[in-house]
Amino acid sequence: MKGLILVGGYGTRLRPLTLTVPKPLVEFGNRPMILHQIEALAAAGVTDIVLAVNYRPEVMVSTLKKYEDVYGVTITFSVEDEPLGTAGPLKLAEKVLKKDDTPIFVLNSDVICEYPFKELAAFHKYHKAEATIVATKVDEPSKYGVIVHDPYTPNLIDRFVEKPVEFVGNRINAGLYILNPSVIDLIEMRPTSIEKETFPILVEKKQLYSFDLEGYWMDVGQPKDFLSGTCLYLTALTKKSPEKLCSEPFVTGGNVLIDPSAKIHPSALIGPNVVIGPNVVVGEGARIQRSVLLANSQVKDHAWVKSTIVGWNSRIGKWARTEGCTVLGDDVEIKNEIYVNGAKVLPHKSISANVEHESIIM
Ligand code: GDD
Ligand code: MG
Repeated sequence: MKGLILVGGYGTRLRPLTLTVPKPLVEFGNRPMILHQIEALAAAGVTDIVLAVNYRPEVMVSTLKKYEDVYGVTITFSVEDEPLGTAGPLKLAEKVLKKDDTPIFVLNSDVICEYPFKELAAFHKYHKAEATIVATKVDEPSKYGVIVHDPYTPNLIDRFVEKPVEFVGNRINAGLYILNPSVIDLIEMRPTSIEKETFPILVEKKQLYSFDLEGYWMDVGQPKDFLSGTCLYLTALTKKSPEKLCSEPFVTGGNVLIDPSAKIHPSALIGPNVVIGPNVVVGEGARIQRSVLLANSQVKDHAWVKSTIVGWNSRIGKWARTEGCTVLGDDVEIKNEIYVNGAKVLPHKSISANVEHESIIM
């Protein structure tokens, strides 16, 4: 089987992290986001993976090529001259995707869950439809594509409404699909949306089914959701592979993932819901909760860090406090005793005055 991951553009909604690292390579649970998907596709028997991007992918190519051997897959980069939307990239990669008649997995690159690809393939085969969408339920469906079922045929989709203005239901498109190669024939070679243009054609043909996802799901393309998604991921990991999590005495409340190379002072208090990356240093008496500390960052003595993403190589000073979905880009410094609430701080900045309200610091 084959898979295409819609990687897209610069990931502007995840700035300032994506100012220095392409979104798919930003670490989620201490691994590049896209590796979770590549690994799951490979485990389901996918041999060819196309990454659809609309910028120069050099960094990604050099980072990801080495995983071809690890997972036994061929990774190709399909580069768009102009953004082709969510359907156009399938047409552009037609040669690879239609090389045989096995179905094609299509993934939005910003969604995390326990990708049920084997089950999805089996479901798809059983229903004999041209396409199957993975569905999940959310409380706020207006930011997503909403699925309405046919009242008489189980799992058959009767209506697909992208970003509905009025409430039509709360079962949404989880951004994961399986398509027969024939679906590519419905797509024209131009910027076009699978949600707005291709799905309606399939609905009309009664060829679009949905498969209900079990467990957690989150679109982690924005900082707030990145942190919420991290909590969900850690909770699932606690149930599935508790041995991967940290149980040192300085952990409180569980759900703490720490890279073995990190140095944590035994008097620090960490958790719940914290990810600490490689070579991170956490000082004496520091308190960290609901946060992600990316590689080579430092949290100095007695700092208090909550709901914060600390970018690579950044430093939080002694007695400093950060909270409110603060995101520090690469190489940011928060000086000693400073308070930061809800700031997005661009790379290489040094903060020496309190930031009390949501703001972007350039
Ligand atoms: N290659 C390429 N080219 N990829 C693109 C382009 C493009 O022009 N435009 C968007 N993408 C990628 C994005 O990077 C992302 O991985 C995916 O396509 C979906 O785009 P988003 O911009 O993240 O869309 P969304 O989150 O508002 O909505 C989509 O995802 C929801 C689930 O999170 C839709 O598919 C909704 O129906 C769905 O519910
Ligand atoms: Mg998205």
